[in-house]
Amino acid sequence: MALLDIKIYGESVLRKKSEPIPAVTPELAALAQDMLETMYDAGGCGLAAPQIGKDIRLVVIDAAKPDEEEPAPHIMFNPEWGPEPDAVDVIHEEGCLSIPDIWCDVMRKDKVWVRYTDETGAQQEQHNCTDMLGRCIQHECDHLEGKLFIDKMSTTDRSLNQSKLRDMAKKHKKA
Ligand code: NI
Repeated sequence: MALLDIKIYGESVLRKKSEPIPAVTPELAALAQDMLETMYDAGGCGLAAPQIGKDIRLVVIDAAKPDEEEPAPHIMFNPEWGPEPDAVDVIHEEGCLSIPDIWCDVMRKDKVWVRYTDETGAQQEQHNCTDMLGRCIQHECDHLEGKLFIDKMSTTDRSLNQSKLRDMAKKHKKA
């Protein structure tokens, strides 16, 4: 197990579209464990592979409330998601380990399904994912498309955070 370096806004890998994973190897399963450890250490509830510098379709999520619920780690290779038929849009505050110190309201679906390959190579499908889990699935899958939650923020939040984001990007952009 090892802690991985979390990439910060401004690094180009965060804007890349990630590649599908042809097969789950022991190396990839070990990488996913390291991502979980890194996520827990940073106090996050989700982490996508681009955030540790790899443009592959892998996300890890644990939407359980720390100190209140048992840990519920999920490792998802090649995840796909969609809204459930009765899903509606809801607004909730979000942050991201790659965009420190910025929190703002983001509109997402309140109820989604997700399909993925787990760390053993088995196909998994989960329905009616709501609350934190549903939101994390959407946020982490966005990372695999090179999309960030700040892309969805309001114009007010955008102007409030503009200079913070600009400074962050400047500091972390590779020459
Ligand atoms: Ni994020």
